[in-house]
Amino acid sequence: MKKLFLIFSSIVVISLSGFISNTPKLSNDEIISAKVDSVLSLMTLDEKIGQLNQLSFGIGWGPTIKVAVPDEYKAQIREGKIGSFLNAIGAEFTYELQKVAVNESRLKIPLIFGLDVIHGFKTTFPVPLGEAATWQPEIVEMSAHYQAIEAASAGIHWTFSPMVDIARDPRWGRIMEGAGEDPYLGSLMAAAHVRGYQGNLSDLNIIACVKHYAGYGGAEGGRDYNTVDFSERTFRDIYLPPYKAGVEAGAHTLMASFNEIGGIPSSGSKYLLNDILREEWNFKGFVVSDWNSIGELILHGFASDLKHAGEISLNAGLDMDMESRSYITHLKELVDEGKVDESTIDESVRRILRIKFMLGLFDDPYAYCDKEREQKNIMTNDIKLASLEVAKRSFVLLKNEKNILPLKKDYKKIAIIGPLANNSVDPIGGWGGLGDSADVTTVLEGFKNYVDGSSQILYSKGCNIDDQDKSGFKDAVTKAKKSDVIILCVGEDRDMSGEACVRSTLDLPGVQEDLAKELLKTGKPIISVLMNGRPLSINWLNENANAILETWFAGTMAGDAIAKVLFGDYNPAGKLPATFPRTVGQVPIYYNHKNTGRPGDLKNHYTSKYLDLPLTPLYPFGYGLSYTTFEYSSLNLSTNKITEDDSIVVSVKVKNSGKYEGEEVVQMYVQDLVGSVTRPVKELKGFKKIMLKRGEEKTVNFTIHEKDLRFTAADMKFKSEPGLFKVFVGTNSVDVNEVQFELID
Ligand code: NOJ
Repeated sequence: MKKLFLIFSSIVVISLSGFISNTPKLSNDEIISAKVDSVLSLMTLDEKIGQLNQLSFGIGWGPTIKVAVPDEYKAQIREGKIGSFLNAIGAEFTYELQKVAVNESRLKIPLIFGLDVIHGFKTTFPVPLGEAATWQPEIVEMSAHYQAIEAASAGIHWTFSPMVDIARDPRWGRIMEGAGEDPYLGSLMAAAHVRGYQGNLSDLNIIACVKHYAGYGGAEGGRDYNTVDFSERTFRDIYLPPYKAGVEAGAHTLMASFNEIGGIPSSGSKYLLNDILREEWNFKGFVVSDWNSIGELILHGFASDLKHAGEISLNAGLDMDMESRSYITHLKELVDEGKVDESTIDESVRRILRIKFMLGLFDDPYAYCDKEREQKNIMTNDIKLASLEVAKRSFVLLKNEKNILPLKKDYKKIAIIGPLANNSVDPIGGWGGLGDSADVTTVLEGFKNYVDGSSQILYSKGCNIDDQDKSGFKDAVTKAKKSDVIILCVGEDRDMSGEACVRSTLDLPGVQEDLAKELLKTGKPIISVLMNGRPLSINWLNENANAILETWFAGTMAGDAIAKVLFGDYNPAGKLPATFPRTVGQVPIYYNHKNTGRPGDLKNHYTSKYLDLPLTPLYPFGYGLSYTTFEYSSLNLSTNKITEDDSIVVSVKVKNSGKYEGEEVVQMYVQDLVGSVTRPVKELKGFKKIMLKRGEEKTVNFTIHEKDLRFTAADMKFKSEPGLFKVFVGTNSVDVNEVQFELID
């Protein structure tokens, strides 16, 4: 049957060859377009509509591995009614499905298989918020690259990642899936993911899907799927940049989001899907809906029924329908009625076929279905080492009183306590793919591996993550009393963040804080290891624990990574990609806020503040300590006046003044002092992660160009305005030195 397919492809190629030979120097893109047109010309309207239909394999949304294709699916594939599956995985199973498409459907158009590979397929890497805390796009690119290898080897062509939604509200559980609150950091992370997944599109790469377009993270109250409503300016300057960065990095697909913005649901927004994405950004790939987001136009009150929803979405520029079945059921009728033009369908089909050609699926539809390769490439040592490396780099040291960390190697007895101490399920985090707890090292195992018998390890669970049971406290206290130091592993479970996982409090759940209070009474030092998918308001720990290491959900290698970092084999250098509030009542709190006409002043009643809280967050954006210390000096500008054709070099000296070698993320922020519209108090415009040996000093340079100073001005043009600017450089968004320059006409 494969032969038939090859005959078909050669017909396409033969029919093209005349065309190509008369047209010298065709680019790859032009050749693909010609091939796409050639296939399109053979398609019936039904077959075209079939390409726009994506179904999830099996029941619900979870990944399915099967080897026999059920008849109901066979029939649909055979009739050309399915263009793509999500959640069908495995080299063998995807081969079986592909075989039906290629051997039994009239036009033999290959299927494209998608899956949520968010932070790993089988080997899990830290959740994306943790990856962002590395402040190392190159590390994130490497992580995505390894994740792609595993997924591609299991038949997957396409991941629904990266999620690049800016999140200023940590109640929103999906903050875990993205890069946090900042458009600059978020844009770099978006591009890094896209490069890592897609590479040069060989059969070990997968195509990326930048999501959720657009503004999904702006849900009111942090409640998932909720209404989003912000000004066009905030939308363009804060929320849109990471999507654009993903497109500019070459992402081949985008996913339209569930939410509405200002009354228009994204999945029916011509403004988003056509005007911005295609007209302004020149995006050439295709857009898939979110799960039934076309159908949800009805409940939004934007479409009267599923047919109307399909009409709106297709006409708005949404190419592929994930799971609502609106297109497959109604598009033909809509064409007959003149409500949808067949040429609009053609455009969407073209975009999808183009990606199928780019993936090489018309040349070898089974390129991703090699069983042997699958066995060889999954959970290799290289991938596990990469996961370990990313995990270590994602950790953020929040507190280290009297340099209690790194742990001394001569502790005789170490107590490992808490519901996350010997827990191999939760470190996988939400959207864990095929991550299996059997492959995860727990903190307890990580410590045992590390000390290898040289210290005694005492373990007690103490309590569960989220109930009121204190019956385990006694054992925990007993073990703590017998030990020299307590490693207290607390936080959230993996299902507390991710889709629809919204919390109304940011405190530690259950009785975990009570457990910590009991342990404090033992007088033994407490090193708190946090696992969580969002910023938490851990005030008590901040005041009472001797040290705190934020480890997010670190993935397969969590326990080993945590032990290595706590013992100082790796000096932590992660920085927070999102502000940690003191209490949920402070939300939204983010570093790049406006000054207001009455900036908060505790001594002045009529200013912008809470009566019962300090002005500051618990930990600011960009915050993170090291086992060593860094001194900043000699902040300088190459000039203090520039025109729009010049650039300015900002330089600063950073010295390692502590006892260990270590890395520091040197951060540069800018404030535009006066504008035609008000400007944020600070905006991240650059950072560099440098390694310094003990006593070593380096000069770090940043260059600012006029284009870095642009924003959506009063006339809605994206431009800079002449005037004074402050430049801040430092170790986080608060502890900075500043200088000033002027942009002149
Ligand atoms: C819904 C989620 O919002 C989206 O992120 C995901 O990719 C799809 N479901 C498919 O699982």
